[in-house]
Amino acid sequence: MAYKQDIKDVYSKFGLFNARWYDQARALWTNLASRKAEANFTKLLIANIKPSSEILDLGCGTGINLERILNSKKRFRSYTGVDFSDDMLKIARKKFPKIENVALIRRDITKPSAKKYDIIISTWVMSHLEEQSKIIDSYARRLNKKGILLFVFLTKPVWYIDFWFHPILRLFACEPVSEDEIQKIRFRKDINKYSLGITTLLMIRGK
Ligand SMILES: C[S@@+](CC[C@H](N)C(=O)[O-])C[C@H]1O[C@@H](n2cnc3c(N)ncnc32)[C@H](O)[C@@H]1O
Repeated sequence: MAYKQDIKDVYSKFGLFNARWYDQARALWTNLASRKAEANFTKLLIANIKPSSEILDLGCGTGINLERILNSKKRFRSYTGVDFSDDMLKIARKKFPKIENVALIRRDITKPSAKKYDIIISTWVMSHLEEQSKIIDSYARRLNKKGILLFVFLTKPVWYIDFWFHPILRLFACEPVSEDEIQKIRFRKDINKYSLGITTLLMIRGK
């Protein structure tokens, strides 16, 4: 697994996923591999937003999920996007300047704060981390009653895709989240797979 500095480098101004081109690369990826998963993720996310909702977005990047929330025109109490890449946050802040109930914060998501949320989301981040089940469990514990956790992440596809896809992922400091890790998640979960197994949508409900 990659070191944190390698991951930051991937998303830096000089990295392969150059923060400045990220949104274009992201749109291409969505079209190729995750259109249905992302559509279902967005539908679930929007359906669960209430005026009282406090939303946490882990690894918010350039603010793609914030854009989805704002486009829905639904009212929410707060949105907090967290990311450890200054270059990605800089773009998010430029796209969404000065929105009263929106905070974009630089922090490492592997060290959760104690605060609880109604909606915790994360898209395409887990494959950069280690021991994802522990991280997912720790955030599931930070769900308010009747809250929802929705994560989209990369998993190992069928072998004839994995065979050439895996070496490419390494260039981006990524590893698919393994079935073992998914099974280790302690909370009751709903798992849906898309695009020959490349994309997984995980849902956990707060107790
Ligand atoms: C593939 S991008 C996803 C961005 C956004 N969620 C999206 O769907 O487009 C992964 C993001 O996770 C961030 N990231 C990776 N590991 C992180 C960590 N340990 N703490 C905070 N952010 C992290 C990277 O900086 C990057 O912005």
